[in-house]
Amino acid sequence: METKVLKPTRENIRICGDAIKRGELVAFPTETVYGLGADAMQRDAAKKIYAAKGRPSDNPLIVHVDSIGAMSAVVEKIPSVALRLAARFMPGPLTLVMKKKSVVPDEVTGGLGTVALRIPLSQTALSLIRAAGTPICAPSANTSGAPSPTAANHVLADMKGKIPYILDGGVCKIGIESTVIDVTGKVPRLLRPGGLPVEKIKEIVGELEIVTDGSVALCPGMKYKHYAPKAEVFFSAYYEKMTEAICDWYDGIVSRGGKPVVLCLDENSEKYGKRDVIKIGANYEEYAHNLFADLRLADEKGYGYVIAEGVPDRGIGNSLINRLIKSSGGRII
Ligand code: TXA
Ligand code: MG
Repeated sequence: METKVLKPTRENIRICGDAIKRGELVAFPTETVYGLGADAMQRDAAKKIYAAKGRPSDNPLIVHVDSIGAMSAVVEKIPSVALRLAARFMPGPLTLVMKKKSVVPDEVTGGLGTVALRIPLSQTALSLIRAAGTPICAPSANTSGAPSPTAANHVLADMKGKIPYILDGGVCKIGIESTVIDVTGKVPRLLRPGGLPVEKIKEIVGELEIVTDGSVALCPGMKYKHYAPKAEVFFSAYYEKMTEAICDWYDGIVSRGGKPVVLCLDENSEKYGKRDVIKIGANYEEYAHNLFADLRLADEKGYGYVIAEGVPDRGIGNSLINRLIKSSGGRII
């Protein structure tokens, strides 16, 4: 299959909307990461997503709609806490898990009685949903296990020959996926930290249950290998002597014949002397924005090992820690 990369012109959005209606796959930009979209109401279309990604079929997809009103097509009832969160943060990097209507196929929800919903902030994504005239289910548009795509060329690298269309809307603004909250119970539960910091959600909901026990896979997707480049990733804890410890670890890898690179904040780069670094940005928002792209870059440059600097456990840092623990497979130094 030929994969066409299209600019999001009105005509191309119509072409892609028609493809979704026909049950085909279209990758599209959002403010978090690129999604691999299909008509959420067509069983066979959703199945194609799992095949293209090599994704386990028990890992449910996020359904993207263009408005709060459009949610009622797929959920039984929107709880009042969900309405408050939606009014404040949607469109934006927030996904809410609610009880689904029976019209939503099991292929979309991994057989669960709930469905995850979000309204993306990207105009291209919203236009695509409107052109398709249906909710669009979409996971991140990467091969299962690989870093999520934050630019059209990342999608092309993973999906070339497997899908007909990629809408190229440039680089994703946030760079890590949405925050997922389950609002089916009395107290909202954080299932996956993400682009919307937990502190902001707490301001609206007051109480938020945060399950820190990694052995409980509430978000089915979180139990699988994730965000991993070909290089072996190490993630540092965040503390005063972090840069010295990273230098020691780096030198240890070199002495065993390996080729490492450090992912560091711009301001820290000189602390690593002549060692190879990739400057990831000036602050933690930029760290999040560039993380997945720089993991892919490390592979392209032929590094066998990536050592990622630690980040403080607050704001977007909390979500970064989640991604880096997964990306490193828990190899923390
Ligand atoms: O920012 C994002 O959320 C991106 C863009 C494309 O919207 N999408 C994304 O999808 O990250 P994906 O499939 O890579 O991650 C979705 C996560 C998975 O961990 C999945 O298990 C969880 O959401 N999820 C989906 N439906 C769920 C449900 N009904 N209950 C619990 N978790 C659910
Ligand atoms: Mg993903």
